[in-house]
Amino acid sequence: MTDHNLAIVVLAAGQGTRMKSATPKVLHRLGGRTLLGHVLRSAESLGADLVRVVVRHERDRIVEALADHPGVVAVDQDEVPGTGRAAQAGVLSLPEDFAGDVLVLSGDVPLIEVETFQAMLDEHRRRGASATLLGAHLDEPHGYGRVIRGADGMVERIVEQKDATPDEAAVTEINPGVYVFRARDLRDALAAVGTDNAQGEMYLTDVIGIMRGAGGSIAGVTAPDAAAALGVNDRVQLAEAARILNQRVIRRWQLEGVTVQDPHTTWIDDTATLAQDVTLLPNTHVLGATTIAEGAVVGPDTSLVDTEVGRGATVRRSDATLAVIGDGATVGPWAYLRAGAELADGAKAGTFVEIKNSTVGEGSKVPHLSYVGDAEIGAGVNLGAGAITANYDDVHKHRTVIEDHVHTGSHTVMIAPVRLGAGAKTGAGAVVRKDVPAGALAMSVAPQRNLEGWVEKNRAGTAAAESAARAQGAQKATDVDEQEQDG
Ligand code: UD1
Ligand code: CA
Repeated sequence: MTDHNLAIVVLAAGQGTRMKSATPKVLHRLGGRTLLGHVLRSAESLGADLVRVVVRHERDRIVEALADHPGVVAVDQDEVPGTGRAAQAGVLSLPEDFAGDVLVLSGDVPLIEVETFQAMLDEHRRRGASATLLGAHLDEPHGYGRVIRGADGMVERIVEQKDATPDEAAVTEINPGVYVFRARDLRDALAAVGTDNAQGEMYLTDVIGIMRGAGGSIAGVTAPDAAAALGVNDRVQLAEAARILNQRVIRRWQLEGVTVQDPHTTWIDDTATLAQDVTLLPNTHVLGATTIAEGAVVGPDTSLVDTEVGRGATVRRSDATLAVIGDGATVGPWAYLRAGAELADGAKAGTFVEIKNSTVGEGSKVPHLSYVGDAEIGAGVNLGAGAITANYDDVHKHRTVIEDHVHTGSHTVMIAPVRLGAGAKTGAGAVVRKDVPAGALAMSVAPQRNLEGWVEKNRAGTAAAESAARAQGAQKATDVDEQEQDG
């Protein structure tokens, strides 16, 4: 779907002073994307031929972020401040003969959905308007530009908070900062915008009054949800916008058949994908490009980043980043899967287990207290409690290969590079420094020796020594009793 008569100009040159941040405002994130990313995503689905992003403050960082949006062109704003100047830079960058419509969006208004933009465009074209505004009523309009209407109910102009009289400030209809303009009318009106206002800036909002004065018509579309009009100017509004977006995303998945037990403590990025009959338990974060397949149960207290969860898998109280969890696999409680951890179908990463850059084969288990790094584990393997792959020699990382059906005794340390052949076993506490042939039992621990009476002799007077003496006295008495009975 391409709309040759549509250009989109996104204003993103402002400093965002109220964020108090080293990161430019439009690059702050919510729901898995930057503010600007959300705006561009909606813009792109409108199919405009021409998309411009106006930049100035930290322009290089914003231009770099545009790399993910092919076809979107950055336009520089000069030192004249204000949204009017920014829109002017955008509209002047369009081909001179462009006579279509311009949708002007603010890079800091991330929640307006594409359907709303489409409704504005339709209304604008149906009415042949010079400009079409989005109407929104807020109980607390402070900070926003107010829409001032005449006695006939028609929009006359927009007045900024800082320039408003008390009567104007009492108006609850606000300007969300997105507009459709007829390109030619916008060019003409911007040429007449000055900087005579409380902020000494060129206000884009002034074009409304200017167009009206020139006899142009201003159309309006009411926002289906006033909360979507929220502009992000500080961290309070950022958190509020993130909350609204999260509610929206959760609701969308609920209607697709996902059980979300506690929507208030569940966070799902807009970028994640969930299947039918997934269950999310409280305090679960599904972030980035995570995908969760049918019937999987995730949570409570779980965080998944860019992770793939298979059908029917279970992930409890765990943390996974860039991991793959196979169908029917079980993770946790308290597992930590790092980048490149891949559990095949039916595999298990149990309690206090950390796995990175390793494959765990079908049905294999790493059940308790283990570190597995840079390892290739076959199918049907069971690593006893406390298995450790010692993959790092302070200089290089090395690989451990554990073939099918290996069982290790508790507390086995595998010093990489090393290979345990198919079906091999290790004794408890083994330190495996050499390859273990298939089917062999590897033991590295010296046979146990008991030095009788060592504690009483070497630790005389300690509680341990006294306790040992008592135990031995009792043992002697029993021995004597038994001898007497025998005699
Ligand atoms: C603006 C509107 C206000 C509206 C509000 C909605 C004006 C004058 N005011 O106010 O009516 O209610 O948005 O959220 O337009 N920008 C530039 N260049 C600049 C200044 C700003 O590109 O020189 C960009 C910013 O990066 C931002 C957007 O324009 O993405 C809005 O700027 P901001 O300063 O946040 O305007 P508000 O005071 O919120
Ligand atoms: Ca703003």
